[in-house]
Amino acid sequence: MQPGDPLPGLTSSELASFSAGLDEFENVENSEGGLGPIFNNNSCVACHNAGGTGGGSPILVTRFGRNAAGKFDPLEALGGSLLQDHAIDPAIQEVIPAEANVTANRQSTPLFGLGLIEAIPDSTILQNAKRPPVDGIRGRAAMITDIATGRERVGRFGWKNQQATLLSFAGDAYLNEMGITNRLFPHENAPNGNFTLLANYDAVADPEDATDPATGKADIDTAADFMRLLAPMQPLPLTRSAATGSQIFQQMNCAVCHVPSMSTGPSSIRALDRKPVFLYSDLLLHDMGSMGDGIAQDAANPREMRTAPLWGLRASAPYLHDGSAPNLDQAIRAHDGEARNSRERYLHLNLTQKQQVLDFLKSL
Ligand code: HEC
Ligand code: HEC
Repeated sequence: MQPGDPLPGLTSSELASFSAGLDEFENVENSEGGLGPIFNNNSCVACHNAGGTGGGSPILVTRFGRNAAGKFDPLEALGGSLLQDHAIDPAIQEVIPAEANVTANRQSTPLFGLGLIEAIPDSTILQNAKRPPVDGIRGRAAMITDIATGRERVGRFGWKNQQATLLSFAGDAYLNEMGITNRLFPHENAPNGNFTLLANYDAVADPEDATDPATGKADIDTAADFMRLLAPMQPLPLTRSAATGSQIFQQMNCAVCHVPSMSTGPSSIRALDRKPVFLYSDLLLHDMGSMGDGIAQDAANPREMRTAPLWGLRASAPYLHDGSAPNLDQAIRAHDGEARNSRERYLHLNLTQKQQVLDFLKSL
């Protein structure tokens, strides 16, 4: 199985949904179809391709806001917190406003195996948050309102756990990365909040993503199907060095946050029904101290980040939310806040032991 392949064991109709979704995910949008007026790129695959369609990429997007007296303001009236750095016309190019005193880069994450993460019950993640604190490590579930269903759910997607479902994330990405309005996100982003400018350049009626009467699905549904049915990367067999690294990983309490596996709940899709998920994350928000990105978003405060899942790491360099760590060693060294004790233990390993940990991480 290659990265980009569907989950094993899909029915023929599920496979057909996967292929239709793959086409949509790779489809290049243009301004006649609703791209922009301001946007970040013109297809999902443009930012999600490392190792295969659906992977991550080193492409960064920019968030900005204003932190004053400990209160974070996403500067929504000025187009925040997400910058759109492309425009269909130079006259409406968005810029980081002078009012912003915080900016953060966010790297494009891999999407392999996300259907399994979506199928983990909220109760399982909430259980992780109830553990007695170990080694200064706490963690908190991100309670958010899921746009697609209107329900209170546990957020689990994005660096800040800002979305709970793939459909909601798809709606968010169609609007905020490509400028394609849809039934979940029906209003265009105005360039730096200027609605007059928007009106002059927004020629396509909203929502731009319409439901196809033949299938009953819009592009956001089809793209969500692709992501839901996309297989995780396959772990490599453990070498002797990696097997030792796995034990050291446990001993350093890395696994308290990077929980090796959880299980999906019952699902009407057999390939997602009560399956183990080897994601290496508790899907909780943690106070990461200096490693936080300074942006408050949905349930997460400026210092909180989602424990990054570690599966598939070997295909997703560079690392961390801002892509600032060129390799795994530097990603570990940057850990702070609740992960400080784990980081100190790593720093005290000898060279052989460090290499064993890195060999383990590269096998996931
Ligand atoms: C300009 C680049 C860009 C484009 C285009 C883009 N994405 Fe992303 N994607 C990102 C970045 C950056 C993140 C991390 C965002 C964050 O958490 O702040 C992300 C995260 C995601 C996630 C969450 C993954 C996780 O690890 O939890 C999903 C799902 C996703 N994108 C789907 C899509 C879909 C579907 C499309 C097309 C409609 C799309 N993206 C287009 C850059 C992009
Ligand atoms: C308190 C929880 C916590 C502990 C303990 C912890 N991590 Fe992390 N880890 C995180 C979070 C949160 C991120 C994402 C941080 C970011 O980019 O902002 C992360 C990111 C990573 C990444 C980069 C992933 C990527 O895709 O960019 C690696 C590698 C990693 N951790 C390995 C380790 C190792 C090895 C240990 C033990 C020495 C460890 N972590 C301990 C929470 C933790």
